[in-house]
Amino acid sequence: GSTLIAPSILSADFGRLSEEIKAVENAGADVIHVDIMDGHFVPNITIGPLVVKAVRASTGLPVDCHLMIERPDLYLKDFRDAGADWISVHYETCPHIHRTLCAIKQLGAKAGLVLNPGTPVNAVRDVIEVADYCLIMSVNPGFGGQAFIDFSLEKIRELKALLDAKGLSIPIQVDGGINRETIGKVAQAGATIFVAGSAIFGADDYATEIKTLRKIAQA
Ligand code: DX5
Ligand code: ZN
Repeated sequence: GSTLIAPSILSADFGRLSEEIKAVENAGADVIHVDIMDGHFVPNITIGPLVVKAVRASTGLPVDCHLMIERPDLYLKDFRDAGADWISVHYETCPHIHRTLCAIKQLGAKAGLVLNPGTPVNAVRDVIEVADYCLIMSVNPGFGGQAFIDFSLEKIRELKALLDAKGLSIPIQVDGGINRETIGKVAQAGATIFVAGSAIFGADDYATEIKTLRKIAQA
């Protein structure tokens, strides 16, 4: 169906990154989620376009670049050229979010709009129609393995209701603390694209984990 499971490579073994990506692809992943952090917008530094290019070369799946960086407009083309199929930007980093979403689409990528836990759904009420998907963060971005923030569920419900009221079928993505305990209620609330880092890469058997998460989400 329309349920997409997107392993976040943040929790992968970076010394064997290509193998790890092939392993989750073979295990049934739908999308590869790549967390780009700059040490300014979020208190952690991860990777840039060079590694995205290596990710691109390792998989046939869509590559989803989640940009947790200041001034993302300066780097959109670099990430697109490196092979990103989806590029998401945080509302909090974009004073001209409409322009930024349009620029991503102009580059031929799917444009994602991301909201931090502290940003209300209402803040994106007008611009949401420009996004190809909307990501509700269910942790404060920066690190893998954090606990799911419960009020995210209400935000997903609110966003779903807003999209329904506007007659929009924009998929809702959720990221942070997604595991066997949380994915069911998140799916119930209206999300269909599930990012999971530690739950998948921390599992003994990636295929079993992905299958189980998908099954709970679709129950
Ligand atoms: C957090 C990142 C997430 C992270 C999720 O800032 O955006 O994608 O990797 O990790 P888990 O699934 O372990 O919460
Ligand atoms: Zn992410």
